[in-house]
Amino acid sequence: MSITGIRGTFFDFVDDPWKHVGDEEASARFHSDGLLVVEDGIIIAFGDYSEIINDFADIDVTHIEHRIITPGFIDGHIHFPQTRVLGAFGEQLLPWLQKWVFPEEARYADRAYAKDGAVRFFDNLLASGTTTVQAFTSSAPVCTEELFEEASKRNMRVIAGLTGIDKNAPDYFVDTADNFYADSKTLIEKYHNVGRNLYAITPRFAFGASPELLERCAQLKTEHPDAWVHTHISENPAEVRGVSEAHEGAEDYLAVYEKYNLVGPKFTGGHAVWLSNSEYKRLHEAEASVTFCPNSNLFLGSGMFRLGKATDPDQRVRMTFGTDMGGGNRFSMLSVLDGAYKVGMINNTLLDGSVDPSLKDSAEAERNKLSAYRAFWSITLGGAEGLYIDDRVGSFEVGKEADFVALDWTQGPPGADWHSSLIADGGDPVTMDDAANMLFGIMIVGDERAVDETWVYGSRAYKKG
Ligand code: GUN
Ligand code: ZN
Repeated sequence: MSITGIRGTFFDFVDDPWKHVGDEEASARFHSDGLLVVEDGIIIAFGDYSEIINDFADIDVTHIEHRIITPGFIDGHIHFPQTRVLGAFGEQLLPWLQKWVFPEEARYADRAYAKDGAVRFFDNLLASGTTTVQAFTSSAPVCTEELFEEASKRNMRVIAGLTGIDKNAPDYFVDTADNFYADSKTLIEKYHNVGRNLYAITPRFAFGASPELLERCAQLKTEHPDAWVHTHISENPAEVRGVSEAHEGAEDYLAVYEKYNLVGPKFTGGHAVWLSNSEYKRLHEAEASVTFCPNSNLFLGSGMFRLGKATDPDQRVRMTFGTDMGGGNRFSMLSVLDGAYKVGMINNTLLDGSVDPSLKDSAEAERNKLSAYRAFWSITLGGAEGLYIDDRVGSFEVGKEADFVALDWTQGPPGADWHSSLIADGGDPVTMDDAANMLFGIMIVGDERAVDETWVYGSRAYKKG
């Protein structure tokens, strides 16, 4: 039994800031001098240092000074075998997949290549402050195995699964529905709920899935109802048209997944750019989730995610934010927040009546504004809620797993130290408002250079420099 303490300035969330318009501080917690007490990876106490320390007089305390400590970042949608595919010029989704992605992902059928890729993948994540991912793998079981093996070595909470595709890809890359089913079952039995690993039944997307493959997914979900389901939905206009041609009788993209009983709690559809109002409503009713991947949506020219629509209080849809690396061109969730803020601001302009008064919707326009509260909630507690793992990670609540990141607001591009000194006169944050302003600076001006330390399950897993 080992009990340790971490002392420092803490910022986390107790509620969804979109529920507190005009009073977002009510959704957050701030301890300028706080203490987090961890026993065997689990948080057993959290609060003001002076109030708690007497109960733990004998423990070793690590003092992390001049940093803001937040829960570790959660990336709701990332592609492990695309770690090398960043920054391919000029393509939209479907030709980009053929030209760059499938050839690279095919290399992950080789165990040595997949093993090396997994080390690089997790090194990059930890250096970016990300402690939990929901990840795609490739159509080769070896790729999924190596992801879970490396995650287990690092004790990281990961949701992933064999990524099924049986059409619209080269012969060397497609699988059969039967193989996908058999291999998924073997992997579920080997990895699901083992250590911190969780399994997602993962049809890559409806455009690459025959009815037989989706039937096999339905069968897997029936046989393993506690498994997650992870896929893509309505990312790109050509893809959406292709799905409607291939799946006759489906009224829209979501209806394809509904037909196979995949849409419910623990279902995540990545991108969700071109969803209709009806699809939003049905996702809300099903308590399913979507992922906002702004960097990828911009890089591949996919479109503008309707942030203010997803956060409509009358039909709120659970949501994670994701890099979609390598469609997204960074591993950093801070960079995702930068992109998300800018998408939100464009949406805001389109809805505030200044472009077309007939489209004016002031409430939806406002919901597109990504404050520091909304942003950091989305990549911590909100992300955990989106993935149905908020009983385990996402905040400093007692009983949760101790994953966190220490952010240095003075680090980033040249000049970050002087820029950030505008807040709190160059000192440490004294109030929650100071901290929120510093976090906003980190997400908009800063980058992963602000990530100074990343801790996983109560141990330091990354230290900058
Ligand atoms: N849809 C199906 N596969 C992929 C992928 O690898 N990346 C993205 N962005 N969309 C997809
Ligand atoms: Zn993706």
